[in-house]
This record gives sequence, C-alpha cells and structure tokens, in this order.
Amino acid sequence: MNSSSSSLVRNELDPDRLPKHVAIIMDGNGRWARKRLMNRINGHEKGVETVRTIVRTARQLNIAALTLYAFSTENWQRPKAEVAGLMLLLTRFLDTERPTLFDNQIRLNTIGQTERLPNGVRQKLESTIAETAGHTGMVLTLALSYGARAEIVDMVRKIATSARQGSLDPEAISAETIADHLYTRGLPDPDLLIRTSGEQRISNFLLWQIAYAELYFTPTLWPDFSKDEFIRILQDYQRRERRFGAVPSASTGP
Ligand code: FPP
Repeated sequence: MNSSSSSLVRNELDPDRLPKHVAIIMDGNGRWARKRLMNRINGHEKGVETVRTIVRTARQLNIAALTLYAFSTENWQRPKAEVAGLMLLLTRFLDTERPTLFDNQIRLNTIGQTERLPNGVRQKLESTIAETAGHTGMVLTLALSYGARAEIVDMVRKIATSARQGSLDPEAISAETIADHLYTRGLPDPDLLIRTSGEQRISNFLLWQIAYAELYFTPTLWPDFSKDEFIRILQDYQRRERRFGAVPSASTGP
C-alpha cells in the first residue's frame, strides 16, 4: 500500500469518491488577527501556514486539483500596506514552498488578471509555473487578482472576437466553448467549494465552474482551519449524494 492509500484508510475516506477538484475561499484572516489585537498582516501570515498544511494534505490524499482564492480583484481596494504585505507573503510562499512543489510533483497554476501584480511577484510566479509545468501529482491553482465576472467578460470578448473574425460560428458555441475560454481551461470543475469564517457567499469566485459543486461553509477562521477539519469536510462530502440535476437513483422505477 502506498503512503497515499494508507493515509486514506487512516482517515476513513473512500479513495474512489474523493473530489477531483477542491476550491477554497480562505476567509477570516483579519478577524483572527483582530481577536488577538494583532495587525491584519499577522492574520495573513498565519493564513499562509494554513495554506501550507492544506496543500500538503490535499496532495497526500491524492486530490488532483486544489484552487485557493488568494487575492480578489476587489482586494486591490485594501490599504496599500496590506496589499504590499500580501504580495510579500506570496513571494515568500513561492520561495519556501518550492521544495514542496518539487518533492510532491505539484504543478503551480494561476487564474486571474495576474498582469496587474507587481513585476517581482509576477516573474517569480511565471518562473515557478514554467519549472513545475511537467509535474503530474496535483495542480495547485492560486486565484490572484481574480474575479469571476471579469473572467466571464474576458471569455465573451475572446469568443466575440473569434466570431467576428469568422473563425467561430456563433451557432456552434456550446458550454464547452465557454469552458475553453475561461481562465480555468483544462481544469475539471470543482466538486467541492469550501468557505471559511462563517460567511455564506460566493463573492465572485468561479461562478460558471461551481454550477454543480457541493458547498460547505464553516465558521472556522482560515488561520484556525486544520488538516482534521479538512478531512471531516471530505468525509461529509462523501456522505452527500450528487445528482447533477437527475432524480435520485432509488426513485427511477416505473
Ligand atoms: C481573507 O481574509 C483572506 C485574504 C484576503 C487573502 C488570503 C491570503 C492568504 C491566506 C495569504 C496569502 C496567500 C498565499 C497563497 C501565499 P480577510 O482579510 O478578508 O479576513 P476578514 O474577512 O476577517 O477581514
């Protein structure tokens, strides 16, 4: 038994019913810091530790794709010092996580308007993405300067341009055409979306892609989110019956 399957047995998870893609809205860093009379950036620092734990756990469990909402288009409106602090944490994260990405065959990916990120961060992201491009263990996608409506606007522009140029017949546009023009092209849709900190909102995250995702809201603030809670949520996911709009299997009689 390899280490991944033994860890599944230990955690009472059925390897055949794991979500292929888990997406997480990491929320509550600021409140975690405020409760301790700390600076918001201390909350983000602690949040990065949780990111490390959850990336490792997802990989250990053999989850194929993990997508983390790290910075939204709306986050640009935060105080300059907080934005700069988050960019610094992201740069440091790319340095410190490098060995983990290599040792665990994790491929780094980003979604969002990354051209808006400061040069230094963007270059580090680009080089890490290029260096890990051949990794096949798990794809870790960081949503950075990401907003789903902006993604949809970009998608419509690309499709409209192709239609105008005559390379795409408007009648031939399908759900697949749309998926192929989103930033998430090539990724499976998330099966499970988790949001921490008690807010029950989607906040402009992956609006098209979560059409059939199971949603899980936990009151835990992101810096307090743990491997154990992640596993409990996966167990809960495995108890749910996913129907994708069809009738339950037991009710399909005459
Ligand atoms: C929400 O907390 C969290 C964020 C805006 C960003 C999440 C960022 C990290 C976990 C750190 C950087 C990430 C990586 C991948 C290195 P909030 O500030 O909105 O919390 P609040 O709602 O309690 O104020």
